[in-house]
Amino acid sequence: SARRCPVGKALSEIPGRWLPVQRTLWDNIEVMNTQKPTIHLIVAARPNFMKVAPLYHELIKQGWCNPLLVHTGQHYDANMSGNFLRDLNLPQPDIHLSVGSGTHAEQTAGVMLAYEKVCLEQAPDYIIVVGDVNSTLAVTITAKKLWLPVAHLEAGLRSGDRSMPEEINRIVTDALCDLLWTPSPDGDEHLLREGVSPERVVRVGNIMLDSYELLREKIEADSAMSDLGLTPKGYGVVTLHRDFNVDRQEALSPIVDLLIQAAKKLPLVFPVHPRTRARLETFGLWDKLEGSAGMQLVEPLGYIPFMNLVGSARLVLTDSGGIQEETTYLDVPCLTMRPNTERPITITEGTNKLVDVETALESIARVLSGDWPTGTKPALWDGKTAGRVADSLKTALLK
Ligand code: UD1
Repeated sequence: SARRCPVGKALSEIPGRWLPVQRTLWDNIEVMNTQKPTIHLIVAARPNFMKVAPLYHELIKQGWCNPLLVHTGQHYDANMSGNFLRDLNLPQPDIHLSVGSGTHAEQTAGVMLAYEKVCLEQAPDYIIVVGDVNSTLAVTITAKKLWLPVAHLEAGLRSGDRSMPEEINRIVTDALCDLLWTPSPDGDEHLLREGVSPERVVRVGNIMLDSYELLREKIEADSAMSDLGLTPKGYGVVTLHRDFNVDRQEALSPIVDLLIQAAKKLPLVFPVHPRTRARLETFGLWDKLEGSAGMQLVEPLGYIPFMNLVGSARLVLTDSGGIQEETTYLDVPCLTMRPNTERPITITEGTNKLVDVETALESIARVLSGDWPTGTKPALWDGKTAGRVADSLKTALLK
């Protein structure tokens, strides 16, 4: 074809372009009268915002492309979504799919149906998905069936536990994406072992920590800790929301007992995820926990106040993925209430250990007596990942 796309290639040369989409792309180019490639950055749930923000800001700064923020609406409460946009200086999303909650199939299908329409209308030049939430998988499948190129930021992580929905999301997303940006060497190893060709894998480092560095001054100056009446290293932070910890009373009830015991040794602040709050209320555990000595239950916090709390905490007890990395970066002891982790480098090089209801109290005692590993920062966890991602994207688009 003699027709050229905005990046100077014949449309037929762009990998994965489906003809009807090409035509739409061409129409859009004339309407938009721009030669800049359009990049969709997908956000969906709370852990996505701090991974997308540094890249969005970097792409705006570099100016060679037109980054658009696409929010699937998987998380929709102000304190699970809007506050993160504000804290991370992100604009309101350019496109909002408003999918909301549902079963896994409903949520995944909802994103697929809504995003397919957007792809057919806009034919973005590259789509970037992050992390391992249901929307990551849904967007990837939808886009790849339209032959649109997709990159996965935070690729290659594996817990080896297929009972976790996030593990299924990671495996399928990585199998389909054109470009796989990994945070650590274990990510590269998993992908190569799964048969991914090496030229698709680029180690970029941990982008979430770019968000921390971008906002470090504001985080350190924030008043969250003092507002809660806490003092540096004088409290622990708790977050729990995994289905296996909170959805069944047999699992959640002993965890509540553990927290009540732990709060007697160290004051705890627990920003409660909506899923967890709902279960605590259903199982009649909320009042018991809220009334216990040393325990403060609070609403989910924005990025800046939450990181202010984590940064000065004596320890963190969590089942989150990202917090395992943030605590290693900040050298804060982390007790992860899970049987496994997709982030083993936080154990081998950092401050993280896996615990359960049987062992957590003993681990807390070890932290309090100073018997805990100090973290080293893994290679490329340096706050400069967004620049490496942008360079890799530019190479992929302009080569
Ligand atoms: C999702 C991600 C998980 C991530 C977590 C961070 C998947 C499979 N899971 O789990 O990887 O660690 O987000 O929070 O994608 N809810 C609200 N308000 C909201 C969002 C959710 O009330 O803004 C409620 C929902 O109605 C639902 C529950 O919380 O009942 C769970 O939400 P959902 O997005 O399905 O999964 P998460 O547990 O948040």
